[in-house]
Amino acid sequence: MPEQKWGTNTGFVLAAVGSAVGMGNIWRFPYITGENGGGAFLIPYFTVTILFGLIFMSLEFAVGRYYNKSIIGSLASLGSHFRWAGAFTVIVITVIAGYYFVILGWVGSFFVSTVSHDTMTFDGLTSSYYPILSFGVVLGLVAAIAAGGVSCSIERLNKYGVLALIAILVPLAIYAVSLPDSDKGIAYYLTPDYTKISDPAIWSTAFGQVFFSLSLGMGVMVAYGSYIKNKISLAKASSVIIMTNASVSVIAGFMIFSFVFSYGADPASGTNLAFVVLPQAFSEMAFGSVVGSAFFALLFIAGLTSAVSLLEVPIGALSEQFGISRRKAVLASSGIVLLVGIVASLGYSPVSLSIGDTPTLDWLDQYIGSYGVVIAAGMFAVIVMWRMDKGTLLEQLGMHGKIAMPERILYVCKYVLPVVIMLSLVFSFVS
Ligand code: TRP
Repeated sequence: MPEQKWGTNTGFVLAAVGSAVGMGNIWRFPYITGENGGGAFLIPYFTVTILFGLIFMSLEFAVGRYYNKSIIGSLASLGSHFRWAGAFTVIVITVIAGYYFVILGWVGSFFVSTVSHDTMTFDGLTSSYYPILSFGVVLGLVAAIAAGGVSCSIERLNKYGVLALIAILVPLAIYAVSLPDSDKGIAYYLTPDYTKISDPAIWSTAFGQVFFSLSLGMGVMVAYGSYIKNKISLAKASSVIIMTNASVSVIAGFMIFSFVFSYGADPASGTNLAFVVLPQAFSEMAFGSVVGSAFFALLFIAGLTSAVSLLEVPIGALSEQFGISRRKAVLASSGIVLLVGIVASLGYSPVSLSIGDTPTLDWLDQYIGSYGVVIAAGMFAVIVMWRMDKGTLLEQLGMHGKIAMPERILYVCKYVLPVVIMLSLVFSFVS
């Protein structure tokens, strides 16, 4: 089996940006910000990004590069019983992939319907079985890209994907803020409510958003770090990645709320925002079908590069743990994602499959997605910080960089990070 490595450092950084920048930036960040104190939310958001996002990302890259293994193999190198923590993480990410791909299928359907001037509604879509078909198409696409290998296929997708993303986002955002009444949207988005800053729930929300948005805690960045071949400073690479990710989120916020308020719509959240409110706005807008197509293309490209990184975790873990070829691992991972995805997409279908009153997709997101990510991130931080040799870690973090990593940084990871992760879990349980 040829060893999987990135061809260039730029390819590596763009792939990590592609993983981080996803549907979480374009439709989740804006409404979370609007609902949680507007401009004031940017304070916890940037604090968490710089204080924890940067360190955690560097840590994942460092572990991946040093052990040259998946999350399972890396944690097992620190103690064979930690293999189970790795396996737990792989299960969680496979479930996330299941419903993330379903949502990406919806995005693809909206793209096709907007391009073909068809007025599809979300209710219309989900009262048919098309979402299962579109999910299958997305899964097939991601699996085909993954089967092409890391440097040939994944690296190339991200190189063009990230460029295309910026080339679509920037003009779209400029057009959006030039629309009449966009100032009302920007006011909703950014008018700060400083009273919220003292609310711990806001910090917990910021923490969850940052970790999800940066693809942290799930072994993605461990996998991407293990494919590094050339000399590169992990701290520098991580800084570029987190800053690009935050910029895309902030710009997306301007775009989304300008669109929403220019057409007098209410700022909804989640799926309603992307699939009900915005399509309505596009249908009333001058050049709406062009703008709408560009928007769904943007969302699809952003989601696709993230989807590829999600599937990469089970692929890497399965081929490593069972010694099977990459192609077989792609097939096995896609098979499991297929099962989860069918269960998730049936939640939004004529049968409305649900657990209690919650559609299966939302249930998986709430329980496995939110709590699972936090638990996995916590285990990773604790195991690595308490078991890995401090010198090795500092060397990995500072290697090929101009500044040596201060040892104090490790204390943040060792003591502060696990406590913050625990608190965040407690708060999300309580609320
Ligand atoms: N970061 C992506 C987004 O913002 C989603 C994502 C990709 C993800 N890989 C992940 C989330 C791993 C958690 C873990 O949409």
